[in-house]
Amino acid sequence: MKDLATRTQALVQSNIRAITLLLEGKNGINLGQGICDMPTPDAIKRGAQNAIDSDFSIYSHYGGILELRQALMDKSIAYNGIPVKNTDEVMVTVGSTGAFVAAIFTLLNHGDDVIVFEPYYGYHVNLLAVMGAEAKFVRTTAPNWEIDFEAVEKLITPKTKAILVNTPGNPNGKVWTKAELVRMSELIQKHDLYAITDEIYEYMLYDGREHVSLASIPGAYDRTITLSGFSKTYNMTGWRLGYAVGPEAIISKMGLLSDLIYICAPTPLQHGVAEAFSMNDEYFSEMADAYERKRHLMCTTLEEIGFNVPWPQGSYYVLADFAPLRKRFSGFEDDMAASATLVDKAGIGTVAGRSFFNNDADGSQFLRFCFAKEFHVLEDACIRLKKAFLP
Ligand SMILES: Cc1ncc(COP(=O)(O)O)c(C=O)c1O
Repeated sequence: MKDLATRTQALVQSNIRAITLLLEGKNGINLGQGICDMPTPDAIKRGAQNAIDSDFSIYSHYGGILELRQALMDKSIAYNGIPVKNTDEVMVTVGSTGAFVAAIFTLLNHGDDVIVFEPYYGYHVNLLAVMGAEAKFVRTTAPNWEIDFEAVEKLITPKTKAILVNTPGNPNGKVWTKAELVRMSELIQKHDLYAITDEIYEYMLYDGREHVSLASIPGAYDRTITLSGFSKTYNMTGWRLGYAVGPEAIISKMGLLSDLIYICAPTPLQHGVAEAFSMNDEYFSEMADAYERKRHLMCTTLEEIGFNVPWPQGSYYVLADFAPLRKRFSGFEDDMAASATLVDKAGIGTVAGRSFFNNDADGSQFLRFCFAKEFHVLEDACIRLKKAFLP
């Protein structure tokens, strides 16, 4: 038979899924995949149930139901400070992943360069590769993952079309500072670039940090697409609802493209998630407190065991350095070995560091732990880790 399309030939199962498979049958705890196992808020569930009972079952506008776009516009202005002018500058998508796909297919040509910060979220880089864009990497390093703007400028050529920002970040929990975002805004204007900014963890912040959206910085909005979604904030990764906010000329093309690919996000679920906006501030403060406790438990446990831990500034992951453990244990030669050792000795799933770097060797001393678990599950995981690795 003839070969499949070239663009799919390099696609392989991600390490993240591989660990999930390894853990099955071991009664293990998966701190690998970024799925929150807490319940979805009742108001959202009831909203979707009512929409299904009311037969809101037909295609919606390709950009989403108006009620939801209006709510997202209001939220983007109030929480993010983004100068959205009307609901045509907002679209609802199948997950923020759907929004990312629409954004890159709308902005980029085959062969365009996109600047990406390492460590990165693998889906971003893999999707860029599938569509034939070239990722150019700028390293950031623990503990603060500061952006080296000189390194960024050195990579910019006439082929450079866009820059990718992810704040708060996966896998390292970096929260971009306002000063960094101001510099980024200046840079994209100076070099006539677009920015795509993934802000799906915008409500998970620690130590009093604030979320700042690049699109809120003067001069940035006209060339920035902001992506976010409901998966993480409302524990509903499987509902597949996200959104994009940006200038109408770009959003309308992204909408036409999404229309061709999947027509619209599921209509009754859009009605359900519209109820998210009826939730009060308490929901967010309780979520923030709960994540603060989970971050503390995860990071102190790893430190006790001997990991070098750059505490995340936001999101719900920690990219921990296990190099110090090599003196005490075997099975930590590299990230793949370490990940297998944690499954073997403690029944704990993690993600090998190489998943977040262009060169495997750069990730060879890191494991990513996700602490978006019910507290008692996380406690159980931490007890297992201590039993396995403390005397
Ligand atoms: C940075 C980042 N963006 C996007 C997603 C996926 O979001 P969604 O479920 O809205 O597609 C994830 C999930 O882990 C993520 O970490």
